[in-house]
Amino acid sequence: MKPIVLVTKRIPKHVEEYIARYCEYEIWDQERPMSRHELLEKLPNLDGIITTKEKIDKEFLEYATKVKVISNIAVGYDNFDVDLMKSKKIIGTHTPNVLDETVADTAFGLLIMVSRKLSYLDRFVKDGKWDKIDNELFLGKDVHNSILGVIGSGRIGEKIIRRATLGFNMKVLYHNRSRNEEIEAKYNAQYVTKEKLIKESDFVMILLPLNNETINYFSYDEFELMKEDAFFINISRGKVVNEKGLTEALQKKRIAGAGLDVYEKEPISTSSALLKMHNVVTLPHVGSASIKTRNDMAMKAAKNLVDGLYGNQPEDLIKELK
Ligand code: DGY
Repeated sequence: MKPIVLVTKRIPKHVEEYIARYCEYEIWDQERPMSRHELLEKLPNLDGIITTKEKIDKEFLEYATKVKVISNIAVGYDNFDVDLMKSKKIIGTHTPNVLDETVADTAFGLLIMVSRKLSYLDRFVKDGKWDKIDNELFLGKDVHNSILGVIGSGRIGEKIIRRATLGFNMKVLYHNRSRNEEIEAKYNAQYVTKEKLIKESDFVMILLPLNNETINYFSYDEFELMKEDAFFINISRGKVVNEKGLTEALQKKRIAGAGLDVYEKEPISTSSALLKMHNVVTLPHVGSASIKTRNDMAMKAAKNLVDGLYGNQPEDLIKELK
C-alpha cells in the first residue's frame, strides 16, 4: 500500500504526477489557506505531509500520530518545533539552494526600491501627482559605490554580495558567526563586528534564520547606531527584528527608510504604522516567488517527502535532525 500524504497548497502538475507515483495523496486546491481545524482533522490518517508555513507544534504532532516525514516548501523552518520532532523521530526537510539567486534578486530589488524611492514614485505618478517635470521629492540615495553591510553571509548572502560588488561596485562589510574566507577572497568583503557594520553601512541587510539566538537580534538600540541616511533591509524572518523598535526608529527619523519582505505577523496588520510610511517598502513575503524557483522548491519538497517515506535519507534533512 502506498503511503498517504497531504500537500497543503497547490503544486505544479509535474510535481503532483511525481507524488502520485509513490503516494496516495490529497492536495489542498483552494485559493484560501486550509484552516487549522481542517488541517488537524486530516492529520491522523497521514504518513507524510508537505507544508509551507503551518506551525508544527505540540498540538499538530498530537494529531499526526502516524506522520513520518514533514517536508517544508521553504528554506526557513522556524515553523517546526525541532526538539519535539526529534523526540518523536519525525523526519523534517526544507528546500535550500534552489531559491538563493531569486531571494538575492528580491533583496536587491528592495534595496533599490527604497533608496531611490521607486515604489513611492510609481504611486506618485499613478495618483496623478506628477505636475512639474522635476521635484526635489524625487531625489534618492545612490546604491552604486555605497557600503553594504550583510548580517548572515550564508549561501544567499554570498549571492547578494556578488551582485553588490560586481554589479554596483559596492564595498561590502559582513558579520556572521564565523568568517567566510571565500567571500573575502572573491569580493573583498570585510569581516567586522556587528556594531561596526551597523555604524558604517549605508544599507544594513539582515539575512539570519529565525531561532532562539536570533529572535529580536535587531532592536531600537541597533537602529540608533545606524547612520541617519542609511536604510535597513529585512528579507529573512520578521521576528529577527523587533518591529516596535524599527517603527520607532523610522518615526524618529533615526534611519532613512526600510525595505521589508517579512514581518513579525504575516500578513501584516492593515493598521500597522509601517504601511503609512512613504520611506518603507513593504512586500508580501515574496523572496523566493518566481515561477521557476517555486516550481523547483515544490519538486524538491516532493522528492524529500518520498525519500523519507521510502527509507532513503532525504537530500535536505534539516541540520538539527541529521
Ligand atoms: C523561505 O523559503 O524560507 C522563504 O522565506 C520563502 O520566500
